[in-house]
Amino acid sequence: MGWTIMNIKNYVRFEFSSIAENVGLARSCVAAFASQLDCTLDEIEEIKLVVSEAVSNCIIHAYDNRANQKVEIMVSIQDDRTLDLIIKDYGKGIVDIEKALEPAYSTDGSRMGMGFTFMKSFMDEMEVISKPGEGTSVQMRRSFLVRDQEAYA
Ligand SMILES: Nc1ncnc2c1ncn2[C@@H]1O[C@H](COP(=O)(O)OP(=O)(O)OP(=O)(O)O)[C@@H](O)[C@H]1O
Ligand SMILES: [Mg+2]
Repeated sequence: MGWTIMNIKNYVRFEFSSIAENVGLARSCVAAFASQLDCTLDEIEEIKLVVSEAVSNCIIHAYDNRANQKVEIMVSIQDDRTLDLIIKDYGKGIVDIEKALEPAYSTDGSRMGMGFTFMKSFMDEMEVISKPGEGTSVQMRRSFLVRDQEAYA
């Protein structure tokens, strides 16, 4: 990852087969992990949406809806307040990354082309690393406010 590695407090790494049923599983796992952070339910919903978009892209685009292909997720908490998320596939890759990131761009005419735009808007940083024929890794980071516990006392 291009960013500074800070003080990793906890991490989880898992992989699963490229079937639509696993989108919900992946988002629930990441949400359960992210709930260790001091973040709101709305923020957890945003993280879930980001995971759904990225995992759906692996299944639909990277693997053209072929089952039994590998999707990997690595999620970590750094310095008590930062969530790092990496979602990786070994599928067909992206030829023009810059274009793929444009809002409303899709190689599939029936889709909205908004997945990356949502991921970018809900996270502080997003980096897409991809090689045609080798796969894609979407790396994202978001920091949450450390809330003043006494304010809730
Ligand atoms: N993991 C991936 N592997 C290969 N190509 C990808 C991957 N993720 C995205 N792409 C390419 O980038 C384009 C843009 O992705 P994005 O998620 O923004 O839109 P979409 O998936 O086409 O539509 P939506 O997400 O709104 O359903 C896709 O149409 C696809 O061509
Ligand atoms: Mg998408």
